[in-house]
Amino acid sequence: MTAPHRISVFGRQGNEISVIVAGSGPPLMLVHGFPLDHRLWLPQIESLAADFQVLAPEMRGFGRTTLGPETFSLADLADDCELVRQHFARDRRIVLCGLSMGGYVAFEYWSKYRDRLCGLGLASTKPDEDTSEARAARLEMETVVKEQGTAAVVEPMLSKLLSPHTMANQPQVVELVRAMMHVVPPATIAAAQRAMAERRSFTAQLSEIDCPTLVWTGSDDPLAPPDRTRIWAARLPRASCEIIDRAGHLSPLETPSPINRLLHHFTAACHA
Ligand code: MLT
Repeated sequence: MTAPHRISVFGRQGNEISVIVAGSGPPLMLVHGFPLDHRLWLPQIESLAADFQVLAPEMRGFGRTTLGPETFSLADLADDCELVRQHFARDRRIVLCGLSMGGYVAFEYWSKYRDRLCGLGLASTKPDEDTSEARAARLEMETVVKEQGTAAVVEPMLSKLLSPHTMANQPQVVELVRAMMHVVPPATIAAAQRAMAERRSFTAQLSEIDCPTLVWTGSDDPLAPPDRTRIWAARLPRASCEIIDRAGHLSPLETPSPINRLLHHFTAACHA
């Protein structure tokens, strides 16, 4: 197995995309959520690299990926993922799995590059656009981080991202998530919130997503609640939908064992 290492790929807009690469074999790309970095997927990078080539790119401004231009769209992030696929997987199709904001990127990737996909993972995410209240809350966060810095938004967000069970029993996960959030520059938070506020809806296209699809969310995820997730997942022609007990929004870190099993089984079946 190739140990996890970091490699940079040059983006089309002068940005440098930092990617954690581990293992060899059929490729699996893992796209993190907001406001995080590749470390959301650390347990999966470690476990799945035994059988797959795991690619965990960091999105613009997060981790060690440079922001590039001041603003970006989710389609730009999908283009970055495609550059990463071309660089590491060459002519092979990938399983691409995105969590939350990473899921919005996954929908865009499907829209632009569906012939390069053999499976799609959609974790703790949603296909619809923002309500006007959600959009207003994003613009408000942009103002707060610009005026007061990133620290001002970390604690209020933390309890929305992690389940009560994680908050009470997994201090190392709480600390890791807090650490990931604290280092995100205000300019990145602003750019990502704008990109998400302006995202389009894929609700009308769900029935066209005909590649094998794995949908999951946490039983205690207030941002992607199980009931709503089951409803939209049922409209995907080839999807299975799993609800992960005791997980909040960040199940890859909160409940790694069931997520490793699910992703392993799904990725192997998609590449079979
Ligand atoms: C995420 O985890 O990526 C965010 O919750 C997505 C969002 O703010 O819609």
